Amino acid sequence: MNKKIEKSLNEQISLEFYSSNLYLAMASWAEVNGFSGTAAFLYKHAEEERIHMLKLMHFINERGGQGLSPGSEVPPKSFKSVKALFQEVLDHEVVVTNEINNLVGLCLSEKDFTTHNFLQWYVSEQLEEENLARTILDKLKLIGNDGSGMYHFDRDIQTLTAISASASGTPTAK
Ligand code: FEO
Repeated sequence: MNKKIEKSLNEQISLEFYSSNLYLAMASWAEVNGFSGTAAFLYKHAEEERIHMLKLMHFINERGGQGLSPGSEVPPKSFKSVKALFQEVLDHEVVVTNEINNLVGLCLSEKDFTTHNFLQWYVSEQLEEENLARTILDKLKLIGNDGSGMYHFDRDIQTLTAISASASGTPTAK
């Protein structure tokens, strides 16, 4: 496959791997701080990012390139609050979207329409992930510092995670 595109797809593998590790670190922080619903949501999100990474790896390999196992940049282990954590999720997803858009642009300039087509799944996925992070942040902004609001938020996000896991057939991590 086109070497420039292979290199960029491998960089995307690294970013998806880091995303998975970042959400795993967030899940663990949420779990030890008593936010079990938020933790379940983030554990599931971490698994999804790993799937995004594997999809890229298989695609590169099927096209005659080689997907590289990414090195691990260690994510932070503590977060200021649940709201700050979700702000970080949104900011991170915006970075991922920009990288996907750069990849799509590269495919067009290199006339690699097969990879361009493959990446459309990621374009749609990013739209959904950014929307979800924005919706969650809006709710958290409304709740502010209200303890009972946070209790309900955590319970609701647990329910949301269980529903989406049963719809997709994946077990919840917790
Ligand atoms: Fe796979 Fe959330 O980027």
